[in-house]
Amino acid sequence: MGAVVECEHVTKRYGDLVAVDDVGFRVEEGEVFGLVGPNGAGKTTLIEMLESLRTPDSGSIRVLGLDPAKEAQKLKEKIGVQLQTTSIQPNIKVREAVRLFASLYRQPLSNPEALLKTLSLEDKQNSRFRKLSGGQKQRVAIALALVSDPQVLFFDEVTTGLDPQARRTMWGLVKDVASRGKTVFLTTHYMEEAEHLCDRVAVIDHGKFIALDTPQNLVRSLRGGSKVLFQVEGREIAPSEFEKLPAVSRAEKVEGGFALFTADGDRTLQELVRLADREGFRLAGIRTESPNLDDVFLTLTGRELRE
Ligand SMILES: Nc1ncnc2c1ncn2[C@@H]1O[C@H](COP(=O)(O)OP(=O)(O)OP(=O)(O)O)[C@@H](O)[C@H]1O
Ligand SMILES: [Mg+2]
Repeated sequence: MGAVVECEHVTKRYGDLVAVDDVGFRVEEGEVFGLVGPNGAGKTTLIEMLESLRTPDSGSIRVLGLDPAKEAQKLKEKIGVQLQTTSIQPNIKVREAVRLFASLYRQPLSNPEALLKTLSLEDKQNSRFRKLSGGQKQRVAIALALVSDPQVLFFDEVTTGLDPQARRTMWGLVKDVASRGKTVFLTTHYMEEAEHLCDRVAVIDHGKFIALDTPQNLVRSLRGGSKVLFQVEGREIAPSEFEKLPAVSRAEKVEGGFALFTADGDRTLQELVRLADREGFRLAGIRTESPNLDDVFLTLTGRELRE
């Protein structure tokens, strides 16, 4: 199995801003690789350099063995691209768009219109693009990315703005593409999505990779075992106060209260009750959860992914 994407020391600046900062990684054939990070982290900048839409300032990129900056035309024949902001002509009809895109490639799918069925767009094939819902537009964008039967697919925030049901549908589509042996490179700011879809996840923040592993290993790296969530009433208390509890590895202020990462949930609950007694505050809404990828981001950066 060869690397489908290979990056070494890739950097991209916009004036003084370093949008992608010395990034290196490989994506293997058949992998679903996710790039996760908050708004402005550099996801689109990086994915668009892989797609040959932006040029790095330094470092080397290979996609299917090609240099996107120098062999853009060759590369475009081999990859499927869904952009974060679609530039599809608003008045074009769905079926026409699929035909048009197929005509742009030397070796498109033999029956590109069958994609409309796969993507549940048959009813909409004569509708104009601008009249579609967000989820339908995203499905058209995916159909257009698939018409050339590419080996690699790039999806930039393919589920942003979709309702939970449309998001599930989209996840099914990505899984389907992956199950046909395609390599998928996607970006998202939903950890849950990365957890669900990706074989490996790179967490990007301020242009740098701060973690890269399977979702399972990333979660396991927290070692904590469990997360204790609660609210405090009666007085102000700093998160650092909770870090003094023996089993607690980290305490964070989160939306609606505090989160403690702990190796021993039961012990932490008992100690917390004693602390509240001693320090004169009340505890409310106490519960224990298993950590997830959102917690990985929180632990790595001290911030929540969506603020
Ligand atoms: N063409 C550009 N010119 C100048 N600055 C840019 C340009 N494109 C992006 N930036 C800046 O570079 C940084 C990274 O932007 P980018 O679009 O890559 O982030 P992102 O992770 O895709 O964010 P989002 O989740 O909002 O899509 C941001 O601070 C952004 O303002
Ligand atoms: Mg983006």
